[in-house]
Amino acid sequence: MDILIRNIKGLVQVEDEALKYKAGAAMSELRTISNAWLHLKDGIIFSFGEMDNYPGDLEGAEIIDAEGRFVLPSYCDSHTHIVYAGSREMEYKDKIRGLSYEEIAKRGGGILNSSKLLQKITEDELFEQSMVRINEIISLGTGAVEIKSGYGLAREPELKMLRVIKRIKESTPLTVKATFLGAHAVPAEYRKDQSEYVDLVINEMIPAVAAENLADFIDVFCDKGFFTVEETERILMAGIKHGMRPKIHANELAYSGGIQTGTRYEALSVDHLEFTGKDEIEALKNSKTMPTLLPGASFFLGMADPPARRMIDSGLPLALASDYNPGSSPSGDMKLVMSLACIKLRLLPEEAINAATINGAYAMDISDTHGSICKGKVANVYITKKIPSFEFLPYAYGSKLVDRVILNGYIVDGIIENEI
Ligand code: NIG
Ligand code: FE
Repeated sequence: MDILIRNIKGLVQVEDEALKYKAGAAMSELRTISNAWLHLKDGIIFSFGEMDNYPGDLEGAEIIDAEGRFVLPSYCDSHTHIVYAGSREMEYKDKIRGLSYEEIAKRGGGILNSSKLLQKITEDELFEQSMVRINEIISLGTGAVEIKSGYGLAREPELKMLRVIKRIKESTPLTVKATFLGAHAVPAEYRKDQSEYVDLVINEMIPAVAAENLADFIDVFCDKGFFTVEETERILMAGIKHGMRPKIHANELAYSGGIQTGTRYEALSVDHLEFTGKDEIEALKNSKTMPTLLPGASFFLGMADPPARRMIDSGLPLALASDYNPGSSPSGDMKLVMSLACIKLRLLPEEAINAATINGAYAMDISDTHGSICKGKVANVYITKKIPSFEFLPYAYGSKLVDRVILNGYIVDGIIENEI
């Protein structure tokens, strides 16, 4: 199957050789070909160039005229909790009235609230509910997504979540990576002896998840009021033993030591990072770990922002992800995430696009195949509506600007924007 897109106003994020990620000053480099064409063949990016060298309309190919439109690599959303049961708008009201995320959690709300809802729902219902959101993010331009478990908090419901993630992987054109997050919160019955729950995660859940080969990565919420550095280390070691690479929820609520733990264990990413100081930046330098910011969550919870500018100016890379979840970020709109990053974290549009594509791909261990327009990479792109510039994408923060989506070299039509 051939698709030839011609007269593209701007082909954005073009690479001759696949970089693993972009860091520091390179984050503001975004190679764009004006007046371009792009040839997708058998699911991969076959070739591209300027219209001056257009090969001509190929016989048998699907020809798309993209006059006035931009073509970008699909977003790589490296941190989501998109598989969940029900929503939590009542806590949203509590937050508006002044309760903090931690206070809501202490009252048995928050993650434990979603956990209760998840225990009750069948696997099929969970799949149906999640697919509404999956279709939504596809229509918004996401092509690869990482999805975490972590609302089951016991062996069977955690497996239920991970099996749903597997079904999403098998039945949609998205590239999906699965993360086991049994250590997302401590269930009420283990409050008195948290180590018992950690033992359960290590001795029962991780082997069961590994036996069904349900997770690529292992995650822990390493933060004040959740899991300690020592507990995190024990869980990471058990996950690593079963072939799962770490990704950590770190430093969202305090200087938790989560960032340093992540770099020590060669985590693929450490995520949130609102509490990042000099020591944390030092730990991240020369590490293999991608610092990942989730501006949707800090916006929604009304929290302090991470020092993104300082991090980039120190030479670090940054990835952006949506954190799509019912408690701290009920949106998977990566374009909005880029707008928040530009407005609140002072990223330039070029930096935001790199963070949401190639660097997000690295945070999912797929930057060899995703995250840029590069020959041989997977043909995951979207075509915008007619817009004046690529900067217009984060600038027009409330406008829907995706016109067509192509995943694995196929035009994804008929994605209905279901009501949630
Ligand atoms: O990434 N910080 C921890 N976990 C999620 C929130 C999950 C929830 O509140 O349901 C997060 O923000
Ligand atoms: Fe999260």
